[in-house]
Amino acid sequence: MKHIFLYGPPGTGKSTLGKLLARSLKLAFIDLDRVIETNAGMSIPQIMEQQGETAFRDMETAALKELVGHASSVTDSHKIIALGGGALLRNENRDYAEANGKILLLMAELPTLLNRIQHEPGKRPLLAGDLKNKLAALLEKRKEHYNSFTLKHHVDNKPSEQNAREAQIKLGRHHLSAMGEYDIIVGQVFNLPSLQNPIIVTDENVAKHHLEKIQTLFNAKSVIVPAGEEHKNLETVSRLWKAFLENGLDRKSAVIALGGGVIGDMTGFAASTYMRGIDWIGVPTTLLSMVDASLGGKTGFDLPEGKNLIGSFHPPKLVIADPSLLLTLTDRELRSGMAEVVKHGIISDPDLFAMCQQGMDWVKSNLEEVVKRAMAVKIKVIEEDPYEKGDRAKLNLGHTIGHAVELVSKFELRHGEAIAIGTAAEARYAARVGLASQSTVEAIESTLSALGLPIQIPAEMPRGKIIQAMRVDKKKNAKSIRFALPVEIGRVELVNVDDLEEVL
Ligand SMILES: NC(=O)c1ccc[n+]([C@@H]2O[C@H](COP(=O)([O-])OP(=O)(O)OC[C@H]3O[C@@H](n4cnc5c(N)ncnc54)[C@H](O)[C@@H]3O)[C@@H](O)[C@H]2O)c1
Repeated sequence: MKHIFLYGPPGTGKSTLGKLLARSLKLAFIDLDRVIETNAGMSIPQIMEQQGETAFRDMETAALKELVGHASSVTDSHKIIALGGGALLRNENRDYAEANGKILLLMAELPTLLNRIQHEPGKRPLLAGDLKNKLAALLEKRKEHYNSFTLKHHVDNKPSEQNAREAQIKLGRHHLSAMGEYDIIVGQVFNLPSLQNPIIVTDENVAKHHLEKIQTLFNAKSVIVPAGEEHKNLETVSRLWKAFLENGLDRKSAVIALGGGVIGDMTGFAASTYMRGIDWIGVPTTLLSMVDASLGGKTGFDLPEGKNLIGSFHPPKLVIADPSLLLTLTDRELRSGMAEVVKHGIISDPDLFAMCQQGMDWVKSNLEEVVKRAMAVKIKVIEEDPYEKGDRAKLNLGHTIGHAVELVSKFELRHGEAIAIGTAAEARYAARVGLASQSTVEAIESTLSALGLPIQIPAEMPRGKIIQAMRVDKKKNAKSIRFALPVEIGRVELVNVDDLEEVL
């Protein structure tokens, strides 16, 4: 994906939305109609009156091609381009826009459109005169055309800021400024920017499926480490540092982390410490890392005493989440990732939670949508509290028990499986202390179970060991442990708990 084209009937607010999107994505905004007017030295009504619609459409095609230019990579001179309401009627223009970016079609009901454009008489020559009937006729005539765009957003009855936020989710595109500056993009991995002396860090499983094509395309070196949480340790991190040295990486080099959360956490940490910090790019390959681990800049590795005990904040320069990479994941790993998706639904997105309730078959057919919605929850939280001084701790829902259970299971449980167990156990505790209703607990348990995730702490697992592990977990504080507990679907609260026996 390169440029973002906003398209749709007159009055859908393409320019207003475009400017808001440009501000939050730190991209340039351009209104194609203004470019045409500048090129022609006259207004669009004047062009239409003096030269006719065909001449105007020719100018539109020329302006579009001039604007799009030759951006070659995912971060190279992107723009947000608002198009006139008929700009893609010509197949030539549509093909050109599709080849050079993503088109988001804005739609609205007739009364909304009328309300917005009735105050601008004379600005739209095709609607001059009987606005209501002409607009209705234009919508009818272009109905099939507008319907043929797959990425659509309805703007009715919502403030522009909300429309901009929702548009970002649909586009799968975000920019974080709170800790470093970086883009998060849902798109094809082949759009990675060209890098100086890049090296790809990956694990043996991911390498089997995805390394060769990416490595060839970017002429990159690679280092392959053993897969699995049990290798997320200092030994593997030192291997990475040594590989960086042997491959001649200097302070200008960049590392690409191609893998799940384990690879992302270790590569980010190795990059944060190698030569006092070099750049890295996240290419997450598990659902869990797309919606969670690759976002937010936390990097690190485990000690035998506990998970993620050593780490740093070192955000990547770019994250590209390509849902097609998930097709090679095992069923168990995909389900494991769904635990974090459910968690994000519980934290603040009831619609996402409802998607999870559709079950695994629905999820598999709608992976891109699931990734886009679930990552947006985490992005919003980390934008507001990048260093976990307050609300970011809400993302720990399920993790206080989950991390402990994962550790005590000696990583027999996948990370997401442990988080599912933790989420269900913490929800049950929330109900016992009167924070959540029984129906909320049942919704959480049945959704996790229907996705094939465990919800009970294994009976044979010693409770004392879990409590001990919870105390060592990095989220402890002196007297009590802070839990993120569900109140209802879409809302969690941070609660300090002293009696850990009671929680289990
Ligand atoms: N930094 C953070 O903010 C953060 C947040 C959440 C989780 N995490 C960490 O993330 C880790 C869990 O991440 P994970 O679940 O992605 O585990 P993982 O990285 O171990 O990947 C899971 C398994 O899937 C394989 N795999 C990965 N991508 C594949 C693909 N496309 N096709 C086939 N196989 C593939 C891996 O080789 C591995 O065996 C934990 O260490 C956890 O602590 C970090």
